[in-house]
Amino acid sequence: MAFEVRPIEWREDGLVLLDQRLLPNEVKHVVCRSAEEVADAIREMVVRGAPAIGIAAAYGVVLAAMASGDKSRKEFIRDISRATEQIASARPTAVNLFWALERMKDVLTRNETENAPVLREVLLREAHAILEEDRQTCRRIGLHGAELIRDGDAVLTHCNAGGLATSGYGTALAAVFAATEQGKRVQVYVDETRPLLQGSRLTAWELLQAGIETTVLCDNMAGVVMKEGKVNIVITGADRIARNGDTANKVGTYSLALLARAHGIPFYVAAPKSTFDMSLESGERIPIEQRSPREVTHFGGVRTAPEGVKVYCPAFDVTPSCLITGIITEKGIVRAPFEDNLRRLFG
Ligand code: MRU
Repeated sequence: MAFEVRPIEWREDGLVLLDQRLLPNEVKHVVCRSAEEVADAIREMVVRGAPAIGIAAAYGVVLAAMASGDKSRKEFIRDISRATEQIASARPTAVNLFWALERMKDVLTRNETENAPVLREVLLREAHAILEEDRQTCRRIGLHGAELIRDGDAVLTHCNAGGLATSGYGTALAAVFAATEQGKRVQVYVDETRPLLQGSRLTAWELLQAGIETTVLCDNMAGVVMKEGKVNIVITGADRIARNGDTANKVGTYSLALLARAHGIPFYVAAPKSTFDMSLESGERIPIEQRSPREVTHFGGVRTAPEGVKVYCPAFDVTPSCLITGIITEKGIVRAPFEDNLRRLFG
């Protein structure tokens, strides 16, 4: 593929993030030089998407380690735990954030006899490994997902599960990119994804850069497009998947899954293993982030709802696994019964 976005890059002077709040109108970068700045960037969605916030979190820990200077080992560990807590509090739903922080903590535990300079190196290596593994994982998800897409198909997607949401190739969009690379003609319908428009701002931008035919829809248009027979398959990403296959993803995904079921259209979720939370029996226990009412009452900075109105603003919803045709992972496509098949996948 000629175009591959780089939303997260490590440089000597800090973590460089492509500012996703400004796309598609401006392509600007933000440099984070401390764990606190990384936590803020995740909270404010400079960087967003489950795998991407996990990668950024890992580098946030590295920045805390660097700032810890020549302190004693004990003080160094205390600084790292403080930074980890700060980053963990940035957003609650995508489990990749906590998964990456756990990996960073584990690496410290495994090297508990080492001094601070060695630990800094070890942490940096682990963050690089998380980024590199994500690159490979996304490629594999793409190849498995591409098997589901036929020449001439139209895929519908929601939010952004593309390169911007990962290290650069995506999960749901990886399937589209891989199918296209195999020479299949694929077009994509993109829900605009209110309130923050990750579909129209980010997914449409990425797909157009890659030269893929793209049509943006307001979220409430998905039903009619399906009824008119324009969509062959729905593929979305995920923020956290419980062990029974229930999947949290950007709010609106649940409605899309219901619509797909009503129209007999296969509904797939694409996600790496790091998005599974096998400690949760079902989706009921997935914490759902509530965001500022302003995201609903305003559009492009302009108030569109009356002052004083009540607002409900969950950032994610949970699609029950009974509505999911299959989950595309780097290890292959998992289908019902999800609990048994996922347990097998996770060994
Ligand atoms: O609030 P966001 O933009 O972080 O939400 C992102 C999504 O819901 C994505 O679909 C999900 O993280 C999967 S990214 C490969």
